[in-house]
Amino acid sequence: MTIQENVSLKTFNTFGIDAKANKYVNIQNLGKLKEVLKTEASKPLFVLGGGSNMLLTKDIEALVLHLNLKGIAIIEETEDYAVVNAQAGENWHEFVLWCLDNNLGGIENLSLIPGNIGTAPIQNIGAYGVELKDVFHSCEAIHILTQQTKTFTNQDCKFDYRESIFKQDLKGQYIITNVKLKLSKRNHKLNIAYGAIKSELESLKISNPTIKDVSKAVINIRQSKLPDPKEIGNSGSFFKNPVISLTEFKKLQKDFPNVPHYVVSDSEIKVPAGWLIETAGFKGKRFGDYGVHNKQALVLVNYKNALGKDIYALAQLIQQTVSRLFNIKIETEVNII
Ligand code: EPU
Repeated sequence: MTIQENVSLKTFNTFGIDAKANKYVNIQNLGKLKEVLKTEASKPLFVLGGGSNMLLTKDIEALVLHLNLKGIAIIEETEDYAVVNAQAGENWHEFVLWCLDNNLGGIENLSLIPGNIGTAPIQNIGAYGVELKDVFHSCEAIHILTQQTKTFTNQDCKFDYRESIFKQDLKGQYIITNVKLKLSKRNHKLNIAYGAIKSELESLKISNPTIKDVSKAVINIRQSKLPDPKEIGNSGSFFKNPVISLTEFKKLQKDFPNVPHYVVSDSEIKVPAGWLIETAGFKGKRFGDYGVHNKQALVLVNYKNALGKDIYALAQLIQQTVSRLFNIKIETEVNII
């Protein structure tokens, strides 16, 4: 087992923050993961996947386990569907492309989401009317302390909007090693009701879209609004969209008649945090090496060598301002480390 010391994590987190791991181990197979856990499980550990949903505000004292397990295979199929098993370290978008090349449908709307497959269930990734839970079959995870492998079904994961049991009751207890998705092989059910997808397909002059067309539309939309982490460091949506009561919403709508919103239930309304942040005046604001993206106010960015703690201070200022102006609390979607 090779434990390295003082390893920069700059290229391992999509925010591009130059924090260090005091101790770091690259995990390329299950055997190595178990070996490391056998001796290190009782010490502080930090599991790193694609590094796409975290803001590093300091160096990491714990041993960083960098999960790079690879492999994709169809493990079960009928004429209608296939169950695909992907190892945790596979890049999510490359996996989507592999599925499209194999004519497997269900995750085309989730094209270009940064991160790895192993972390996708933790926050139930979602975009353009589709969430991972819609196609999730099961996943395998290793219990850190006992090294026992457990299978979690869709129900076991308790998925919700950007939530799962791995962020709640079982936080920090398991390492997801592979994920199985159930995808369609024919009669693909397309989700193209989302306004932006509809208009993108129209402008591409596609009236009978395939799953590859939907993916292309999603890629175009994302590229027009969201910065590419390879060029500008970011973690996608920094905040979750808040859900408020109908009474609170009516008050807000009185002051801001054009506030965009989605009805969650009879008594609850979701308001886009991006709109709140833009209305609070933060969209496109730059403070030296960091700021708020100019095309999507929900995304905080690192232009070059920003410190995580400065970006976090900006996030807190945004939260306070939104709270003062609208009396709405916005929570971070990104994990603050
Ligand atoms: N809006 C603004 N100003 C902004 C950004 C958005 O007024 O700067 C308004 C838009 O005009 C629109 C509404 O907010 O009326 C919603 O915007 P958009 O459709 O871009 O989606 P979102 O709510 O900002 C969510 C997800 C994204 C996902 C998109 C598309 C969350 C926290 N974010 O964003 O997910 O791609 O929907 O489905 O739920 C991510 O999680 O990293 C992510 C990018």
